[in-house]
Amino acid sequence: MPSRKPICAANWKMHKTRPEAAAFVDSFLPLSGDLLDAVEIVICPPYTSLALAVERSATTAIRVAAQNMHFEDGGAFTGEVSARMLVELDVHGVVLGHSERRQMFGETDEALARKVPAALAAGLEPILCVGETLEQREGGETEAVLRHQVEADLAEVREGELGQLVVAYEPVWAIGTGRNASPEQAAEAIAFIRSLIAARDEAAGAAVRILYGGSVKPENAAEVLAPEAIDGALVGGASLDPDEFAAVAAACR
Ligand code: PGA
Repeated sequence: MPSRKPICAANWKMHKTRPEAAAFVDSFLPLSGDLLDAVEIVICPPYTSLALAVERSATTAIRVAAQNMHFEDGGAFTGEVSARMLVELDVHGVVLGHSERRQMFGETDEALARKVPAALAAGLEPILCVGETLEQREGGETEAVLRHQVEADLAEVREGELGQLVVAYEPVWAIGTGRNASPEQAAEAIAFIRSLIAARDEAAGAAVRILYGGSVKPENAAEVLAPEAIDGALVGGASLDPDEFAAVAAACR
């Protein structure tokens, strides 16, 4: 089994102006200590703060990712940003398929099937989010939903590239609700996602990093992230505060 470096990613969503983003990085760095050797720290600011976050963390191991992108390189797509434009800013990765984008902004599996390979082709590390709603979980559809999302969204990714991906298992019912999945629920879903990728490419199944996201905070991080199967966290609310994010990152080791 290849050893997988854990990831702790801060999904800031539509939060933080440029001065606020700068203040976060400046406060977080002294708290991170030797954490950056053990854990890949990724900050996902809004587009307007990407360049600043890249600059501010340039001499550190912190990586910066966008929260979305278009699959085309350019064109008449008002309001959109392409992978090339992100790479130009020295952005390292991109969150794709977050449930807020799927639910509120019409993100489809068809678009994601084009976005994931476009990100990889541009040299960006995609963090693909998948997860079921409460209704789907209670209806016993969790595995079917995960299977559909993983198979559809990764359909156009070549076998050899699957291992470069990061996937975040984010049950919709756990996002921003204060109700986290249990470690068992998270580990089970993550093992299932890994098996789907391994079915296409065994080495990729062993290499792909799969995170848990949904109400992870300092008080529950150690417990929720304890299972071996979980390679780290995608953190929303608790990532807005440098102390809280550092505490969650420490639990990702
Ligand atoms: P949360 O968000 O930590 O606030 O639940 C997680 C996410 O949306 O990625």
